[in-house]
Amino acid sequence: MDIRNLKQQAEVELVRVTSDSQLEQFRVKYFGRQGEISKLLKQIPNLNKSDRGKFGEEVNKLKADLEAALGRQVVKLQKATASHEPVDLTVKTDSHRGSLHPVTRAIDQITDIFSRIGFNRVTYPEVDWDWYSFESLNMPKGHPARDEWETFFVDYPEHSKLGKLVLTPHTSNGQVREMQRLKKPPMRMINIARCYRRQQDVTHTFMFHQFEGLVIDKDINLGHLKGTFEYFAKEFYGPDTKIRFRPFHFQFTEPSMEVDFSCVHCKGKGCKFCKAGWHEVGGSGMVHPNVLRAGGIDPDKYTGYAFGWGVERTLSLRPDVQIDDIRRFYDNDIRFLKQF
Ligand code: FA5
Repeated sequence: MDIRNLKQQAEVELVRVTSDSQLEQFRVKYFGRQGEISKLLKQIPNLNKSDRGKFGEEVNKLKADLEAALGRQVVKLQKATASHEPVDLTVKTDSHRGSLHPVTRAIDQITDIFSRIGFNRVTYPEVDWDWYSFESLNMPKGHPARDEWETFFVDYPEHSKLGKLVLTPHTSNGQVREMQRLKKPPMRMINIARCYRRQQDVTHTFMFHQFEGLVIDKDINLGHLKGTFEYFAKEFYGPDTKIRFRPFHFQFTEPSMEVDFSCVHCKGKGCKFCKAGWHEVGGSGMVHPNVLRAGGIDPDKYTGYAFGWGVERTLSLRPDVQIDDIRRFYDNDIRFLKQF
């Protein structure tokens, strides 16, 4: 393990230390004779002469930083112990039974609905390179389409080929990763993960979830995409639900469409819950040949469809949920959460 990782690991462990015996274990693990710092110092004679000085300095700095952090944790523990009042364990309290967060349950349900028709649940990094999030998706550097994704960039050294590190603004970063993983179609993935954008209002949060479908095989066409959505809509919202496509533009699909579901209240007639009878939940389309090429798949042999929808948005429209401000999911207000 390199020095930086070791430091991070030690700091994480230190925060979890809550007793004197754990403090002692920590001391032995890092500062003991056979401890991690001694192990690093023992590596010095094996290094090139020119590297020894810098490495030694880094180890000394690590040691000083960890000693200071340890000192702070000792003071914190002493204060916590001093302020402890005796606790009466027999006093009756308001007991709340825990339950899964509604978004977690929606993710489980979405996974289940898609796995019944052969989709394979995968997860890919939520902090990923620019190349997977944009470039491989037919959005070269400086392309104006990138602006739509209101991205958070991570302050981290740039990769020579893959570019900057970003908090993934959509789950489409999983498309080319899945192609690289499987190498050859057929592919049928459902990638559900956290996404991040600089957005906050009643239908947007900084952190949200998307579920991304990708199907690649011989002769895949828009009919397959439509059939999948109709199946999902009926399973998730109820048997009377209809879907419709609206033409749209994404750089990574051609043609591209946005998908709407008919409002469960007015069945498409128009009411206070919907926009003229419909709700928008996500984007979709046929995978662009350039994206297939970026994933090493021959677009003359294979075609595919893809879609990406917001979990919170999709859930907020379900008849038993019906909330008009998705930020409520993340207020951590138990009174709100336990309704679902
Ligand atoms: C995309 O993110 C495309 N990657 C979707 C896609 C995938 C298209 C594959 C084609 C093929 P869009 O920016 O429209 O598209 O986001 C899709 C959905 O994510 C939105 O309709 C919405 O449901 C959800 N969403 C987007 N931003 C937020 C946000 N800040 N908070 C909550 N949900 C969001």
